[in-house]
Amino acid sequence: MMTLDINLGHKSYKIYIKRGIISQLGRLLTKTNDEKIAVITDSNIYKLHGKKISDALSDFDMGFIVVEPGEKSKSITTLQYVYKQLLNLKITRSDTIITFGGGVVGDLGGFAASTFLRGIPYFQIPTSLTAQIDSSIGGKVAVDLPEGKNLVGSFYHPDAVFIDPDFLETLDERFFSDGMAEVIKYGCIDDSALFERLMGYKSKKDLLTDMEQIIYKCCSIKKNFVEEDEKDTGRRMILNFGHTFGHAVEKYFNYNKYTHGEAVAVGMYKITKKSEEMGITKPGTHNLIKNILTKYKLPYEIADADNRAILKAIEVDKKNKGPYIDIVLLKSIGDSFIKRINRDDIFMYFS
Ligand SMILES: NC(=O)c1ccc[n+]([C@@H]2O[C@H](COP(=O)([O-])OP(=O)(O)OC[C@H]3O[C@@H](n4cnc5c(N)ncnc54)[C@H](O)[C@@H]3O)[C@@H](O)[C@H]2O)c1
Repeated sequence: MMTLDINLGHKSYKIYIKRGIISQLGRLLTKTNDEKIAVITDSNIYKLHGKKISDALSDFDMGFIVVEPGEKSKSITTLQYVYKQLLNLKITRSDTIITFGGGVVGDLGGFAASTFLRGIPYFQIPTSLTAQIDSSIGGKVAVDLPEGKNLVGSFYHPDAVFIDPDFLETLDERFFSDGMAEVIKYGCIDDSALFERLMGYKSKKDLLTDMEQIIYKCCSIKKNFVEEDEKDTGRRMILNFGHTFGHAVEKYFNYNKYTHGEAVAVGMYKITKKSEEMGITKPGTHNLIKNILTKYKLPYEIADADNRAILKAIEVDKKNKGPYIDIVLLKSIGDSFIKRINRDDIFMYFS
């Protein structure tokens, strides 16, 4: 079993990574009294893997709270439903919540845990690739508002994270690629060996065979940034490589044309192509990114008309904000830095 310790000063907890760890859950969650466990999940995961959890927790008094799959469940309405179900299950502050699912369930359930009765201990069991390498680490929990994503949330860390790579076998191909964009991002910003390793896999089967190590690598990189800058006011921003343009793409298309990972993929390629032309980035880097994105079925460019429309949208957006913007650039693969630029210069980096 691979483990990582997250040390934040005010709180420490472990991340466990192991194939099949779910079957050992009952042993890992030491039963101290007659506490109840509410497992928050979505209907896809419940159908596919719900029994594994109920079997593993057969010694506990547990109940499921099942929400609809997809981003629409990260809403105040679903949050209210979750609170009602927690009341129905008679969950108190000495009980526990488990979030069991992708990033949606983790963010929604984590936020419910942080607010219900002023805070209930919780564990994350992430099941999508995005959740296993990104959203379950770092303590950011939130729901969306109609006006935008993650507008209501908090920093609330779990007592432990249990990552079972075997869950990835049932994950849909597009969601898998979506998560791979963030895996590639970790290679770009911090670890050229990870990047090369990803380039080397001959098949998805080979990649899945190594998944424990890959997840461990990604989680260690995120852990380091989170420990240094928990509240995301400085260094943690490096994790946003590719996200400035990526967010604009997602938002412009109302979150339904490109997935988050696809939009970030385009953002990573575009900014690196530009920074290379400007002499900031080692020549050839954008081609390496293009090759790896293609290998993992991710886009690196979008249609010209789309590009123009997005730049226009950024222009409208930028009028309402301060004079500077921080962007993340690469010196080379595995070596990144934050650059503060004049907001008016933003087009130089994306056009
Ligand atoms: N908190 C953070 O730091 C952070 C970081 C990144 C992303 N996020 C959030 O995460 C969300 C996206 O996460 P996501 O991509 O996991 O989305 P998701 O939770 O909607 O999961 C994607 C789809 O895959 C299904 N699924 C998940 N695991 C599965 C499995 N093992 N087998 C079969 N199907 C499975 C889900 O039911 C869903 O339909 C967004 O809301 C985003 O804002 C949060």
